[in-house]
Amino acid sequence: MVAIKQTIVLITGGNGGIGFELAAQLLSDASKYVLLGSRSLEKGNAAVENLRSRKLPGTVDLVQVDVADETSIATAAKDVESKYGRIDALVNNAAVAVVHGSLANQLNESFKVNATGPAVMVEAFEPLLKKSIFTPRIINVTSGAGSIAIRLDANTPTYSQKVVHYRASKSALNMISVCQSVEYGPLGWKVFCYNPGYTVSNLSELNKAELGAQPTSKGAAPIVDILDGKRDGEHGRFLNPVGQLPW
Ligand SMILES: NC(=O)c1ccc[n+]([C@@H]2O[C@H](COP(=O)([O-])OP(=O)(O)OC[C@H]3O[C@@H](n4cnc5c(N)ncnc54)[C@H](OP(=O)(O)O)[C@@H]3O)[C@@H](O)[C@H]2O)c1
Repeated sequence: MVAIKQTIVLITGGNGGIGFELAAQLLSDASKYVLLGSRSLEKGNAAVENLRSRKLPGTVDLVQVDVADETSIATAAKDVESKYGRIDALVNNAAVAVVHGSLANQLNESFKVNATGPAVMVEAFEPLLKKSIFTPRIINVTSGAGSIAIRLDANTPTYSQKVVHYRASKSALNMISVCQSVEYGPLGWKVFCYNPGYTVSNLSELNKAELGAQPTSKGAAPIVDILDGKRDGEHGRFLNPVGQLPW
């Protein structure tokens, strides 16, 4: 194993959308080593090839991880440990919003990816974050749709959107994130919930520029700042690109 001096950032769901854009932005900095997580080897390899072809100063490798699958997470953690020995930051970005079938199925599938996945990722990668040579950071990419206070506000533009499965799974992620901040804060780690806001991506058919979604670059850029320590004073909070959201 070669000792890596760069900041090693693992991004789940890095093959598309905000996760991919985040990887690209991080790679403009030579001090970043991105581990691009993807559940699909094919999509992950294509994303890594795309990024490498840009000849950016940072370094990128692929890590196959399906966050809905405990075995896949455990295998990824072992793989990362043997190749890199540590990570310095984990961005729990992977999520699903469109899930079909009964309400029970929608809730179960959403919780598996959006809440249980990030919690199990942190459990599995905790020993590698403990070996960080910098300040360990965890960013849980959540959504304003998970804010209970916003849900109760009839004046919000999304008031008519039910999406109970997505909302409830992101509220659960927020609680998981707060629990992580309480657990790891005393060790000096920094933990955040981050809401990118309405952004172009593959999340749903509504995530299109022509419908008003902001460019993917805008949703991703604040995560770079968080990873660079610029928002460490907001440890444990529910961050918006600018400012914070109510729980
Ligand atoms: N875009 C928005 O307006 C918006 C607003 C608020 C919050 N967010 C949050 O932003 C984050 C990024 O979403 P996005 O908008 O960029 O959506 P996206 O384009 O759909 O990207 C989601 C990523 O998650 C991956 N993924 C899904 N299930 C997975 C699993 N079981 N294991 C591993 N990876 C999995 C997808 O991989 P595949 O390609 O294999 O499906 C894809 O790479 C999500 O947490 C989302 O909830 C987005």
